[in-house]
This record gives sequence, C-alpha cells and structure tokens, in this order.
Amino acid sequence: MATSKHLQFVANHAIALEVRQGLSANPKHLPSKLFYDEIGSALFEQITDLPEYYLTRTERSILEIYAGEILQQAGPSLTLIELGAGTACKTCILIEELLRRQSRALFYPIDVSSSALNEAVRQLGRQSPGVRVNPIVADYTGGVPALSRISGRKLVLYIGSSIGNFEPHEAIGILRRLRRTLRPGDALLLGADFAKSPKLLVPAYDDAQGVTAAFNRNILARLNRELEADFRLEEFRHVALWNRRLSRMEIYLESAIAQAAFLAAIDMDVSFERGERIHTENSYKYTHDMLDSILRGSGFTLEQSWCDRQKWFGVHLARV
Ligand code: TRP
Repeated sequence: MATSKHLQFVANHAIALEVRQGLSANPKHLPSKLFYDEIGSALFEQITDLPEYYLTRTERSILEIYAGEILQQAGPSLTLIELGAGTACKTCILIEELLRRQSRALFYPIDVSSSALNEAVRQLGRQSPGVRVNPIVADYTGGVPALSRISGRKLVLYIGSSIGNFEPHEAIGILRRLRRTLRPGDALLLGADFAKSPKLLVPAYDDAQGVTAAFNRNILARLNRELEADFRLEEFRHVALWNRRLSRMEIYLESAIAQAAFLAAIDMDVSFERGERIHTENSYKYTHDMLDSILRGSGFTLEQSWCDRQKWFGVHLARV
C-alpha cells in the first residue's frame, strides 16, 4: 500500500518528472531540492555544526560583530525580509540589534517549508517578543510579488550562501526578480562564501564523521522511500570535488560497482557503470569579480562588505 509520503511525492508530478529526466541524462543528475526532506534538513542542521563546515559559524560571527554597522548602513526604520529563512537562526542577531534601534520591528521570513517557518515564529516569539513575524510560504526563486506591497524601507536578507547553489545566470535572475519588488533606497544583505584553498573547501563538503555523505545519500534513500526504488546506498560513494575553473564545489554520488536500480513508482530502470556519477549539487565560491558581476547584472549597487579576518566568508550590502 502506498504511504502518505509516497502519495505526496507522486502528487508532486513535477519532481517525479525531474527525477526521470535527471537519471536518463548523460551525465546523470538529481535536483538538489530533494536534499531537504525532514531527515535531510536534520542532517543539514548537523552539517552546520561540524568542525570542517566553517561557513555557518563564520557568517554568524560576522553578523555578531557587525550587526550595528550593517543596520546603520542599511538606513533608518527598517522592515526585515529573509529569503529562504528556514528557522531563521542567524537572523535573531540582526533582529535583536534592530530592536535596540527601533521599538518595534516587522519581519517577513519567506520559505517553501511551512514547518520551518512555524518553528521560526515560535522561536522568535520567545526570544524577541518586540518583533512581529509575518511568514510567507513561497519559493522565492520566482520572485515574491507580495513584497512590493510592504511599505517603508526594506532590508532583504539572503544569507547562508544559498546563492552559491545556483548557476551564476540563475542567481542574477533571482536577484533581478527580487529587485523588481523593491524600491529605491531598499537594500539587500547577501551572504557568500569566498573562493579559497581546496584544503579547506573539500573537507567542508566531505567531513570525517560522514555526516555530509549521509546527507548526500539521503537523496537516494528518499527515492527508495518515496518512489519505491531499490538503490543500494552502501554502493554509492560520496564525492566532493573543487572545480577551480568554475570556482565551485561539485557534489556527486559515485557508483562503486556496475549496478542497476528500479524505481517502481515511476516504472523506471537505471543502470550505472562502475565509477559513474550522479551530480547532486554545486556550491559556487565567490570571488570579488563574480560578486560584482551578479550584483551589477541584477541592478544592485554594492555599498559595503564585511568579512572575517581570514576572508573565508563575506556579507555584502547592496542597494536598489
Ligand atoms: N548551501 C550549502 C552549501 O553549499 C548546502 C550544502 C552543504 C551541501 N553541504 C552540502 C549540499 C553537501 C550538498 C552536499 O554549503
């Protein structure tokens, strides 16, 4: 009998279609949004605490040190909006600082996951009772028209380096659609990971405890659960490679043997040669030139950047 999860997945016909297309392609790929089911989101939370995964804690420390300067630069009387807010963990640093400057604050977290937004509302209600939280359940990549109806000066947070998981031309499209819903004087705060030595980058995406490997394999586990597939997880290796030319980390699942899998729910056979890979994610690492080109390409003007002492991670304020 079909489980409710399975029904949910099949109902999401578009995803089933993307899985079919990705596994029929050469080279094979799978959509990275499949990472974030309940198990995957919990694994990702674990990744953000790993010693090798410097990104989250570095960005958090930048926000802690510079929250005052950032809000000062953004301008007076701000309404905060956050793209892909999730549970909005790091955002409370900025909200607390904002509440020191203005007695009341409005916060619009945007995310596809309503459960993550509920958690954000609950936590912020407890930690920062002065803020009114208006969650918006939406996929921000296509633009969120409701933003243009928010009055006053807006500061849009796009932190966590999610921008790096899009192709540069997609990133420009996302920021351009965002900009259309903003007014002159509004600002964007963009978090981006800097290009750096693979000695630091590779372990961040291939940790000693194997949490990232489990996170990556969860995509196949999900296909097993939700599309009644029979992937042998232990026969797929987690691979993380630095592509210097394209300035990105590339994440793959590599078949350790020649093998086949069957996805019963979509009646699909897939075969793998030994060493054949499924591409599951890219994580672009920004240089100043790349940053300049996506901000300019989307119509924003870079005003100020803050980074850690080692220049591993940057938080950038750009104006409409
Ligand atoms: N946005 C995160 C990043 O690019 C996502 C991520 C972290 C990730 N580790 C991963 C995605 C491993 C795939 C595999 O840093």
